[in-house]
Amino acid sequence: MLKWLSSIAYAGTFMPLQGTAIAGEVDALYSFLLWSSLISFVLIVGGMSYFIVKFKRRSNNDKTAYITHNHVLEFIWSFIPFLIMMVIFGWGWKIFHDIKTPPKDAMEVFIKAKKWQWEAEHKNGLKEVGEVHVPVGRPVKLVMTSEDVLHSFYIPSFRIKQDLVPGMYTYLWFDVKEAGTYQVFCAEYCGLSHSGMMAKVVAVPEAEYNAFIDGKAVAKLSPVELGKKLFETRSCSTCHSTDGTIKVGPSMKGFMTRKHEFEGGATFDPASGGVENYIRESVLEPTAKVVKGFPPAMPPFKGSLSDEEISALIEYIKSEGK
Ligand code: CUA
Repeated sequence: MLKWLSSIAYAGTFMPLQGTAIAGEVDALYSFLLWSSLISFVLIVGGMSYFIVKFKRRSNNDKTAYITHNHVLEFIWSFIPFLIMMVIFGWGWKIFHDIKTPPKDAMEVFIKAKKWQWEAEHKNGLKEVGEVHVPVGRPVKLVMTSEDVLHSFYIPSFRIKQDLVPGMYTYLWFDVKEAGTYQVFCAEYCGLSHSGMMAKVVAVPEAEYNAFIDGKAVAKLSPVELGKKLFETRSCSTCHSTDGTIKVGPSMKGFMTRKHEFEGGATFDPASGGVENYIRESVLEPTAKVVKGFPPAMPPFKGSLSDEEISALIEYIKSEGK
């Protein structure tokens, strides 16, 4: 019985998973409310039942004593509840204040709501729909607005909720304790698909978060732009110039217009087609065709570039080699 009662009265056992430290604080206060209500209920209803039996009028001659008041008793039953109420007020105010005050170093993510989807935009411009990736263990502040009607961003596991209002910005912040996926609901009736207006907060380790937003941001570049970025970040430019200078390997200048001669006598003329396959092979397996006069010094990139990245490099080399 006591075990059953305690499971009912301890919020942490029936509330959704606690995703943040604040969720734990909210649950602790909630448990206090439940327990103090339960104890008050037992004292009041129990006392009342006891008095009904104890002071039942036994006969017509039974007379109630004439009692006007009792200062001590009245003070006690007023002052104790007052103290409890002030504790609840102070405790609740403290948590409310914490929920409403984002840390100064919080990372910002912009959230836009519209019928009926959630859109997140990260600082580097990467957009997501229906998902918000955030790093674990770092305070995140959501700067939110709505495009049409009122919506409300509600994350039960974080015990926080905030309306989004067209024409103004509202804020929400959290610091996720553990990696995981946390459900987001719209908690303000906004029309036909209100109940389907859901999203997920995807909390991942910081390094993974950085890789995630970088990867997506790179994919937003045009193939030539991505290729240029890769050409520099993957050190292609250490050995290959794009201005005709000869470094360790051949320059990319004139790549498309010159006839390529290889060690062993074979040749390749880009004008006859198939340049994509030639570049692809040369990136993945540089020793397959070694350009005459150059050492076979390039490391193979097999497995370290995605198809998309290889295609981007090809487009960049084609555009530089015209
Ligand atoms: Cu958006 Cu309900």
